[in-house]
Amino acid sequence: MPHSTAKDRLIVALDMPAIEEAQRLVAHLDQSVSFYKVGLELLFAGGLDLARALKANGKRVFLDMKLLDIGNTVERAVANAAELGLDFLTVHGHDLKTLRSAVAGRGNSKMKLLAVTVLTNLTEEDLKQQGSRLDPPDLVLHRARLAREAGFDGVIASGQEAERIRTLIGPGFLIVTPGIRLTGSTTDDQERITTPERAIKTGADHIVVGRPITQADDPKAAAETFLQHIREAISVRS
Ligand code: C5P
Repeated sequence: MPHSTAKDRLIVALDMPAIEEAQRLVAHLDQSVSFYKVGLELLFAGGLDLARALKANGKRVFLDMKLLDIGNTVERAVANAAELGLDFLTVHGHDLKTLRSAVAGRGNSKMKLLAVTVLTNLTEEDLKQQGSRLDPPDLVLHRARLAREAGFDGVIASGQEAERIRTLIGPGFLIVTPGIRLTGSTTDDQERITTPERAIKTGADHIVVGRPITQADDPKAAAETFLQHIREAISVRS
């Protein structure tokens, strides 16, 4: 993304229990933020209506549904999601059958498909418990390869893996990175965290930031701080 601005790269996760709360936050953030993520929590509280309203107001919207089901269901769910005219949709990147079904469902829509590689709250121990013999970086790379092969536009991965994905796959494949924290701040339930600088410098196109902005005393000031960190990383990268 050579010409994108810091604002294009910051995605704020609207993880909140009620639509009114999300609307208040969006109004407060105003022109500071242009890209929002609507996930599972808000989905069950009117999140799709808000997603449509955000889009109508010129914002970009990432629908974080993390789909995983049999191929037929994934294909038809993605086909319906594509009708919403939103920007990004996530599908779990566990296997080629699911990924290819999603690509078929997307059809000619411009909505970008992103594969969730390994959730950023999972550690090597958690993967062992799932029965995986790979550690997080290797499983992320394996799934990034599958996503590329299936025709996905990119992946969700932690900033700890961004550099290896970029090296393996090269430019033109989106890397979107959650688990972002400023140095010294609380990690919440996240495990494979990185700073915004590290994520951007090592190849991430977008960072996803939730609680460090949404639960800040002054969310707008917090968003501006993240934007400043992104700007500094972009200037080093270019
Ligand atoms: O509050 P926080 O910044 O930790 O929020 C991160 C957001 O990114 C959440 O909405 C979470 O669902 C999402 N996410 C993640 N790890 C992934 C994929 C998505 O944390 N691998």
